[in-house]
Formats: sequence, structure tokens, C-alpha cells
Amino acid sequence: MYENDIASVLISEEEIKQRTTELAQSVAKRYPVGAPEGDLLLIGVLKGAIFFMTDFARALPIPTQMEFMAVSSYGSSTSSSGVVRILKDLDKDIAGRHVLIVEDIIDSGLTLSWLMRNLSQRNPASLEVVTLLRKPDAVKIDVDVADVGFDIPNEFVVGYGLDYDERYRDLPYIGTLHPKVYSS
Ligand code: PRP
Ligand code: MN
Ligand code: MG
Repeated sequence: MYENDIASVLISEEEIKQRTTELAQSVAKRYPVGAPEGDLLLIGVLKGAIFFMTDFARALPIPTQMEFMAVSSYGSSTSSSGVVRILKDLDKDIAGRHVLIVEDIIDSGLTLSWLMRNLSQRNPASLEVVTLLRKPDAVKIDVDVADVGFDIPNEFVVGYGLDYDERYRDLPYIGTLHPKVYSS
């Protein structure tokens, strides 16, 4: 489909699937079923996390509920602008709930550290993060991420939800983008 724009396959469809199952198993162990706080509440960060969110939720062996938030820090640039905007807020109150933020990637960590601060002010019973991908710069942020699918090199990646200028989200794998795509 996008063959001419993709330089290499970084993580295959099969590898994503296998790692998602492993993450789901380890995450599920931390949340008792039938807790008084109710089902685990997954908060997906639109739009990048949609594919991971739906596959992760189906891989989890415990009941979950889903909410979505849309924030944006990039626009059409390949590097973070330093500004996080809420494009869509949660529909529901999360006070007293066990909340798990589901992200596709932590790059600079700006989006996540901002989200953690924002959501913790809403008094959830617990607040944790699962991310499919993490880049090296993410270690600079003061957010403890218990579950990471893959630590990846500092290359611009697309696919499985991740975009460049809103394109390539629909690729079923994670690939590196050919530099010619964003240098032209
Ligand atoms: C991307 C990605 C993460 C965030 C990570 O979202 O999906 O949410 O950037 O970058 P950071 O760690 O440097 O903050 P983006 O803002 O591009 O919106 P999108 O999910 O709609 O593509
Ligand atoms: Mn995103
Ligand atoms: Mg994006």
C-alpha cells in the first residue's frame, strides 16, 4: 500500500500481537476482578492509541470499560511542539476508579506527563500507563511506566495507529518512514 514510503518494518504484525498478549497478562494480574471500584477503566489516547487499545482490551482476561481522550502535541510536524491541547475530554467522571491510560508511543513524554497530571487531579483510585512503544527521550520524564511493549530507537515510526500528517495509521505493522517523505 505505502511500500515506497516505508524504509523498513520495525515491528511486525505478529510481534505486536504476541507482545500485546504478554502485556495484557501482566497488567491483568494487578487488577482484582470484582473490586468495589468497579471494572478497570481504560483511557485510550486518540487517535494514535486506537489500534493498540482495541487489541489490548480484547487480549485482557479481565472485564474493562473504555473511555477516550483526544489530545494533540504534534500537528503535522515530526517533533513535539511543546504544547498539549485537549481536543476531546472524557465523558465520565473517573473519581474512585482504577484507571489505565493506553498509549501507542511515549516519545518526548510530554503528552503523558501532562495527561498524568491532568487525570490525577480527578482523583482516580489508581492511575497507571501501558504503552506499546517508548523512545529513548522518554526516560527524561518523571513518569513511572510499568508496562512498555517495545523500546525503540529514535527514528520516526508510523503504522498501527501512528501517523505522519494523519497518514499511515492503517498500516498493520510499525515501520520506519523513508526520510524523503518528510524532507520534501
Ligand atoms: C503522538 C502519539 C502520542 C504522543 C507521544 O500523538 O500518539 O500520543 O504523540 O509524543 P510525546 O511523548 O512527545 O508527547 P499526536 O499528538 O501525534 O496525536 P495523534 O495520536 O492523534 O497522532
Ligand atoms: Mn497520540
Ligand atoms: Mg500524531
